[in-house]
Order: sequence, then structure tokens, then C-alpha cells
Amino acid sequence: MQIKLNSPLDMHLHLRDNKMLETVAPLSSYSFAGAVIMPNLVPPITTIEALLEYKKRIIDSTCRDTFEPLMTLFFKDDYKYEFLKEAKKYIFALKLYPSGITTNSEGGVSSMDIESLRETFEAMSELGIPLLVHGETNGFVMDREREFGSVYEQFAKNFPKLKIVMEHITTKESVDLLDRFENLYATITLHHLYITLDDVAGGMLKPHLFCKPIAKRPEDREALLRVALSAHPKVMFGSDSAPHPVDKKESCGCAAGVFTAPIALQALSQLFEKHNSLDNLQAFVSQNAKKIYNLNPPKKEIILEKKPSIVPKSYGDVVPMFADKELSWSIKLVE
Ligand code: NCD
Ligand code: ZN
Repeated sequence: MQIKLNSPLDMHLHLRDNKMLETVAPLSSYSFAGAVIMPNLVPPITTIEALLEYKKRIIDSTCRDTFEPLMTLFFKDDYKYEFLKEAKKYIFALKLYPSGITTNSEGGVSSMDIESLRETFEAMSELGIPLLVHGETNGFVMDREREFGSVYEQFAKNFPKLKIVMEHITTKESVDLLDRFENLYATITLHHLYITLDDVAGGMLKPHLFCKPIAKRPEDREALLRVALSAHPKVMFGSDSAPHPVDKKESCGCAAGVFTAPIALQALSQLFEKHNSLDNLQAFVSQNAKKIYNLNPPKKEIILEKKPSIVPKSYGDVVPMFADKELSWSIKLVE
């Protein structure tokens, strides 16, 4: 059995910088036609200059593959209209992090109060710049995303022209929000379709499955699966592949992030086949994003076949999801 995917897109990707960038960028550029690149470097990407230099380093690392990095700026509530008007020529979106909520988000926004965000949100609405959001409060870890729901509602109601993407959703409440507000969209990761908190901490602790937002309950995963497998038109695949060196994961104080980029399409094929939904995979990994953002990614065809392969134990010093395990699908050809 084979399937062909046209121009798959990863709508939420961490590529890091320097040596890590050189290790991981080719693993995404091999099988994806483009990706939305997260700005949470140290320091975060907050200027057009830094963004363009980072984009060049990404392109230099992608081995001349056909691959379009869609760049994002780290949201600051003091960005003004004139700055954003200039930035719009180079950026895909702004990414908003609540301060300190995840890896390298210390410079994020400290209050979700609408009034302090209004000027920037209005400028973005007018300029047509999408807002990508890491939606978690600093409450109890299992409740953070659900508690952030009211913030999403406020944002969506008060800025109806702003395209708002709830990044890496993990709860059934977030899924429900999609149908309540026209301007709310979502990305869903591979790992949140596969795992629940039980896989992370129900037995021996699995540091390579520890991420933000933390994996939730079986009923939450069911809700995510329902909209992903049916390719609900407001959901897009965003891996949130977030590499950390093995010593930062297998340590006392494990960094958050699951590394999935090199196995994402194979594992998605396996999952969609298991649920008799392979016909919807193209929409989930490309078509929905193209429609939502009016994107025209470079042409690239990925042929996947049902042929078992063993996932490598590591890529450089990064351990992927399913390390040393068998996946039933492989990439046969990229052209
Ligand atoms: C991400 C990272 O490592 O940059 N970590 C994660 O657990 N997902 C940041 C993020 O997207 O939250
Ligand atoms: Zn992320």
C-alpha cells in the first residue's frame, strides 16, 4: 500500500540555532515543503534583522531541499503599527507566549489583559498578520489550557478580524472552541494524537514524551483524534517538534519538548491508516493550512509506503519519539 502527499506542511516547528539547527533542519526539509518556524531562540527573535539572519541560517542548513521557512516574530505588546507594517513583508505571523510558560518564553507577555494588547492586536488585524498563541495559564498543570479558554474567547470576540491560532491544542474544550468562533483555528501535534499523561508518567517516567502543554486524558486525545482524522477544516498539523540535547532530557530538571520531525509523516500515516482515514491525511498535513492562510507552498511529492522501519535511537544527540521502535510506514520517495 502507498500514499502520495503533496507539499506537506508543518505549521509549528522548533529548529533552534547553530549546531542543533544543522542537525535538525535537514530532517524537516527532507520531507516537508515548508514549516512555520518558532521564534523562541535565546534571545527570542524580535527584530526584522534577527529574523532575516535566522532565515538565512535555516536555508543554509536545509541542504538545498525545496523547503520554505515561514518565519514568525516573538510577540511583544509594544510592537507598533509602523513596525508591523514593515515586518509584514518578511513574516508569516506573530507568536505569543505567556511569560515563562514554556522553553525560552521568559520575555513573553505577562498579562493577557485585552487593553494592554489592544494596540498591537488592532494593527495585526488591519495588516492581516495572524496571531499564534501558546494558550496556557500558570495554574495547575493539567488545567492550564482549559483555563486559558476564556482568554481565547476574549481575544476572538474583541478582535473578530484577527486570525487566531490555538497552537498545539490538547483538550476537548479547545476542540469545542473551534466551532464557536469563526476566527479561531488550531494546530495539533503528532504526539498529542498518540499519547496521554499515562504514557508520560503512568509507569516509568518518560522524559522524551514530556512537553508543554503536557499530554492530557484519554477523552481529550479522543477529541483531538476526532477532528484530526476527519480533517476538520480549522485544524492543521503542527508537529511542535522541539529538540533538546539528550543530557537536557535525561536529567534532573527535564526540558519540555518532543522531537518528532523525522518520523512525523510515517507515524501520521500509521495512525490514519489504523483509523481508516488515510484519505483525510492530505487535508490535515497541507490542504487545510493552504486554505486557512491562502498559502502556495513549493511543490513537493512524498510517497509513503506500508513497509516497516525501525526509528533510529538518536539523531546526533537528540532522541526522537518512537526511538528504536518499529513504525509500519516508511518514506519511499521524495520529489
Ligand atoms: C517547546 C520548546 O522546547 O521550544 N517545548 C515544548 O514542550 N513544546 C516550546 C513550546 O512550544 O511550548
Ligand atoms: Zn512549540
